[in-house]
Amino acid sequence: MSFPTHRPRRLRASAGIRALVRETVLTPSDFVMPYFIRPGKGEKRPIGSMPGQFQYSVDELAKTAPEAASLGVPAVILFGIPDKKDEHASGAYAPKGIVQEATKAVKDASPETLVITDLCFCEYTSHGHCGVIRRKGARDEDGFELDNDETLDLVAKTAVSQAKAGADIVAPSGMTDGMVKTIRQALDGAGFQNVSILSYAVKYSSAFYGPFREAAESPPSFGDRTTYQMDPGNALEGMREAALDVEEGADMLMVKPGLPYLDVLSAVKRRFGLPTAAYCVSGEYSMIKAAAANGWIDERKTALESLTSIKRAGADFMITYHALDAARWLGA
Ligand code: PBG
Repeated sequence: MSFPTHRPRRLRASAGIRALVRETVLTPSDFVMPYFIRPGKGEKRPIGSMPGQFQYSVDELAKTAPEAASLGVPAVILFGIPDKKDEHASGAYAPKGIVQEATKAVKDASPETLVITDLCFCEYTSHGHCGVIRRKGARDEDGFELDNDETLDLVAKTAVSQAKAGADIVAPSGMTDGMVKTIRQALDGAGFQNVSILSYAVKYSSAFYGPFREAAESPPSFGDRTTYQMDPGNALEGMREAALDVEEGADMLMVKPGLPYLDVLSAVKRRFGLPTAAYCVSGEYSMIKAAAANGWIDERKTALESLTSIKRAGADFMITYHALDAARWLGA
């Protein structure tokens, strides 16, 4: 591209002309609102590390869920905190599991709302890792590895059970090899050809997930996720991860976190051309909240600027804890 030489400043001279030439404009339909669901009734528990966010019981979620659609936010993503955790994450695929019940509740309360189900096991396993693990010795310090094949069995069962409950989009987040292909086959085999797969294709091993682990009660009880999540220094590796998921049949790709990985997001969008999402994760949200609470930054302006930047970099939509607030701000 060759660039004209006139002064760009003319195009900033008034609010009207700035709006006319603005390249990236946020709308509420860019956002997906995350919800954390816990057992019980009448529960709406504040999450300490994420001011303004709550863990809802299913009945409370049913009351809150219609807000998204009324603000023009088309989709929600659901994270479950099950009653009991075990080594095999059985709560993830139980027909009356927490996410299954939450999905039904959202669909009943707000049929037009798209339900995305997070498909991962760290909230369901007693050890807090994202799949079935094989320990290398008797002690935690001896190390472990994820058992890929066993984890894939769980992935298939869980995807089908989420689709049965009414999920429109399943979002596998464990970065297990072969995950997307396994899910596509399982969904098609069970008659859910129209359920889409949003793959957390490019997921970094990130300190920005800190507050989420409190919210979802899912910190690993030993070890960390560096063996199955990506090194923040690597961008090309992200391309290879995304390419695998595209080949396996992902309908949409996700890059996570958002703001610290704009270069990766931009490259994924350009290279693959699939609908591409960014997950603006808990740490991104909590940093804005904490600084705003201290009067150091303006929450509304900072959040909208972050989201605009992420969209500008190539995101077709953003999962963000600011979804409802941002939709309100845009409408105001
Ligand atoms: C895993 C999962 C995580 C997040 C979303 N899904 C945590 C992790 O990978 O450790 C983090 C999202 C956030 O920080 O908001 N199920």
